[in-house]
Amino acid sequence: MNESILIKGGTVVTMDDHDSIVSGDLFISGGQIQGIDGGKSAGADVVINARGCVVLPGFVQTHIHLCQTLFRGAADDLSLIDWLKKRIWPMEAAHSATSLRASARLGIAELIKGGTTCALTMETVNHTEAVFQVVEETGYRATVGKCMMDKGEEVPAALHEDTEASVEESLALLEKWHGKADGRVRFCFAPRFAVSCTPELLSNVARLAHERGVMVHTHASENRHECELVEQATGLRNIPYLDSLGLTGRHVALAHCIHVDDDEIAILKRTNTNVVHCPSSNLKLGSGIAPVKRMLEEGISVSLGADGAACNNRLDMFTEMRTAALLQKALHGPEVLSAKRALRLATIDGARALGLGNEIGSLEVGKRADVIVVKMASLHSTPHPPDLASAITYSAQTSDVATVVIDGQLVMLEGKLLTVDEPNVVNEANREAELLMNRAVLRDSTS
Ligand code: GUN
Ligand code: ZN
Repeated sequence: MNESILIKGGTVVTMDDHDSIVSGDLFISGGQIQGIDGGKSAGADVVINARGCVVLPGFVQTHIHLCQTLFRGAADDLSLIDWLKKRIWPMEAAHSATSLRASARLGIAELIKGGTTCALTMETVNHTEAVFQVVEETGYRATVGKCMMDKGEEVPAALHEDTEASVEESLALLEKWHGKADGRVRFCFAPRFAVSCTPELLSNVARLAHERGVMVHTHASENRHECELVEQATGLRNIPYLDSLGLTGRHVALAHCIHVDDDEIAILKRTNTNVVHCPSSNLKLGSGIAPVKRMLEEGISVSLGADGAACNNRLDMFTEMRTAALLQKALHGPEVLSAKRALRLATIDGARALGLGNEIGSLEVGKRADVIVVKMASLHSTPHPPDLASAITYSAQTSDVATVVIDGQLVMLEGKLLTVDEPNVVNEANREAELLMNRAVLRDSTS
């Protein structure tokens, strides 16, 4: 049983339906939020002084690849399909269980330090068990999918799967891990994208996801060339193609959705499919800018993700909130996508996209305690901000995150990680990245 925690004297930005902001104490016990502002709090095991800080629900990133954290800086300046063929697939093919473990530990450590307490993550084809283990051990909250790939040109042999084997391995992971650690660890199906999956694989995934009540996490309409490949192969645009196979719906998260036409937006809306906006990744891969203003006006579920360290190269929700807002302002004017709206995308909207809206994403009595304490006294947050949402979205940085609680467990206290040894994570990541690069057969070098 976790210790009880009192977070004292902060400004609690609840992100509830009324956007309530409360000056007071937050009391956590049994993994749950028990009281806000003077509720039950006597005799807490741990008392955290949050004076001068904001207390927020932890950020929820709905598109991450923990397996790519070791590839940071090793795949710059390429567009999607070249990036995949020349760098990412060869490096993923070179992963061992040990290097994947190092990559996941590095990614989770970075996410926790930046206040992200929950992630939807697509792993590589092999060794996904190692990521589930790291999530369980570190106290992290994640929905993890084994990448599925049974088709495609220039796919390294180690990543090319037989359709049935891919489904069987995914089902074995589902059986073993979905719902573990009191529901903190969850499974999703993760077919990579329509370019690298056969229609048989995709329709099997659609059926099984319904039968087993789990999510599907994939990429769609990120890049013009990708869209052309799908249309050439299927005669349909990407979103109608996925829809025709049953891969739309509340339980489906589609990363990117940049190159979508009116009909495709109508499908996303009609089917309540979740769109994941990854603004930094989209800019860095030169993919384009998603029509987020339009999607939000249509009531489509939009949430945020950093994607992977291989295309961002940070896993930082502050950067994603800020960039998401700035991009829509550049396109449509400064009134669009307010700081408050961006903060909702980063918290409660992400939680709802994962089907966890009743459990996390806001600070409300009875919810699981995924909580972050963010200092507001740094130079870049001074003077004392009149509008907290503005300060958090536009000014705050990962280094301002002081304390992080996930499912009622302290995982960072005053900047010190508690469930992973930070120097060890860094050493292990450097060592494993070097070994992996020696193993990887890259298609050519970047210029
Ligand atoms: N599309 C297919 N695979 C990937 C991937 O690993 N990252 C991104 N950003 N897009 C993809
Ligand atoms: Zn991605």
